[in-house]
Amino acid sequence: MIVLGLETSCDETGVAVYDTARGLRAHALYSQVGLHAEYGGVVPELASRDHVRKLLPLLRQTLAEAGLAPGDLGGVAYTAGPGLIGALLVGAATGRALAWALDLPSLGVHHMEGHLLSPLLEPGAAPPPFVCLLVSGGHTQLVAVEGVGRYRLLGESLDDAAGEAFDKTAKMLGLPYPGGPQLAALALEGRAAAEAGGRRESRFRFARPMTDRPGLDFSFSGLKTQALLAWQASDRSEATRTDLAFGFEDAVTETLAAKCERALEQTGMEALVVAGGVGANRQLRVRLAALAAKRGVALSFPRLEFCTDNGAMIAFAGALRLAAGQRDLEFRVRPRWDMAELGPVAALPAPLAG
Ligand code: KG4
Ligand code: ZN
Repeated sequence: MIVLGLETSCDETGVAVYDTARGLRAHALYSQVGLHAEYGGVVPELASRDHVRKLLPLLRQTLAEAGLAPGDLGGVAYTAGPGLIGALLVGAATGRALAWALDLPSLGVHHMEGHLLSPLLEPGAAPPPFVCLLVSGGHTQLVAVEGVGRYRLLGESLDDAAGEAFDKTAKMLGLPYPGGPQLAALALEGRAAAEAGGRRESRFRFARPMTDRPGLDFSFSGLKTQALLAWQASDRSEATRTDLAFGFEDAVTETLAAKCERALEQTGMEALVVAGGVGANRQLRVRLAALAAKRGVALSFPRLEFCTDNGAMIAFAGALRLAAGQRDLEFRVRPRWDMAELGPVAALPAPLAG
């Protein structure tokens, strides 16, 4: 089955075509980062309007790159939530209209399920069961994935998501939006400077929140405050800024890795999967690779460009469900949507059935 996927939940317009027999056929992405930068964050109305402008040209481009005509499609998937309601409506209305005009089945996909399954887009990725660390701008969750659609929440952030903590700390350090990747780049400089000076750690030793008590929940809001107080009490020099970024990144990534280890112990699962924007963080990848090697478990990541929002993960998750016969029954987008409400997918397409 050849499925078109549309992603418009936030500030990225993504389009892709996934073929259950041949894999990913083509994908295209347009990021609105430049549009929102002067406001220091995503402006929902501007995001919606820009999706309207970009979605159809990207759709034509993607079909052309795949060498396909609209009539070759077997289904249409679009992000139905969670996300910004106006932005979601652009993808949902386009997807539904296209499906209606072409007489195809359509399906609204859960954005976080898209992230969670995105490592399976890579050849050789471990199939379920696995523990998934979902780390994006809005979510930090540990999920036991027993199969597609069979998700058990093990723990989650009680306040800020990891990506949100990265973004807010970056803003406080005076870095331009979007802060997460910029803070990570600064942390890399801080690490190099420390190592050149014979130090393995930052001078800023922040807490590893909630690692001293049992459980798999997270809390990153106190860490952000700790970083703010340390910055305000400092000389605010460039060297201090890079060292503080290094210390902050170390605290977040060590905390995430410690909880991943606990989740592997608790579930007895032998594979770990990481998805979502913060999964692009290099230091997190290094730490989790060391953890996986130590415990002898398999580790999979999406390729870097599929860590952050993209159409490929929506086409993929939608294709698994559409190929199993699931269809839209109503027109609905959901700004909030609990992943536990998703139903299981019993039969997977042959290349993914293992
Ligand atoms: O998954 P995503 O694109 O959007 C959501 O669904 O939220 O994640 C975006 C988040 C942002 O908070 C961004 O700062 C963070 O991922 N991020 C990073 C890195 N790249 C993106 N955080 C730390 N290090 C990175 N290299
Ligand atoms: Zn996302």
